[in-house]
Amino acid sequence: MPSRFRWTTFDLNESLPAGWQEDVREVAADADFHEFPRTPILSREAIEVQRIPRGRVHAPQVRDRLPWLHRAYREEFLDMAAAACAEPVAAAKDDRYGVVLNVQRGTTMRFECHIDSNPLTGVLFCTDHAGGGELVIAHDADATDIAAVEQDCSVIRPHSGHLIFFDARQHPHYARPLIAESDMRIVAVMNYYTQSCTESTRPAELNRHLYGDDGLASFSGSRRW
Ligand SMILES: [Fe+2]
Repeated sequence: MPSRFRWTTFDLNESLPAGWQEDVREVAADADFHEFPRTPILSREAIEVQRIPRGRVHAPQVRDRLPWLHRAYREEFLDMAAAACAEPVAAAKDDRYGVVLNVQRGTTMRFECHIDSNPLTGVLFCTDHAGGGELVIAHDADATDIAAVEQDCSVIRPHSGHLIFFDARQHPHYARPLIAESDMRIVAVMNYYTQSCTESTRPAELNRHLYGDDGLASFSGSRRW
């Protein structure tokens, strides 16, 4: 029997800093928008899909321009991640993939269909949408393209201020395109690790693909064990 997908939601609308959505929007407008090549190992796109257009605000920009988010990833959100998980949880020690923003602008961008390498992912939705932009997660671990994911899936509609946690190592997932040309979808994506699946399991090939090397850039994360 396939493993059931589940997620935990925290509503942070009363606790995030005043003006946080405007802050995030301003930073997201300066995102690195381009056609990103498919990710090695983890991609679950159809073979003919080699590039997927989207925007990314990289971790150093998050640290410099959204310091509350950089800090929350290692403090308040880490506590929530721990509450959502049966075993001890740690933030990433390598700053480069701790917390980043994924951005979709207009109707042509979407997020690549993939599986996660980390055992616990946090997603903070930063925008609301009349339609489109849903996070779609396959129930079938063997789904190898978007059409297969859509056949049997959970659909999570973005609600600004909601932080969700899930394990999608066995569940291919992607974000649908937006419906309105004027719309922008922003999520903060966070990698967490657990005692049984530590940061050392992250594929070196993934770091080579994303950053051109497989070394650790910096050590500022906090440990829980
Ligand atoms: Fe993911």
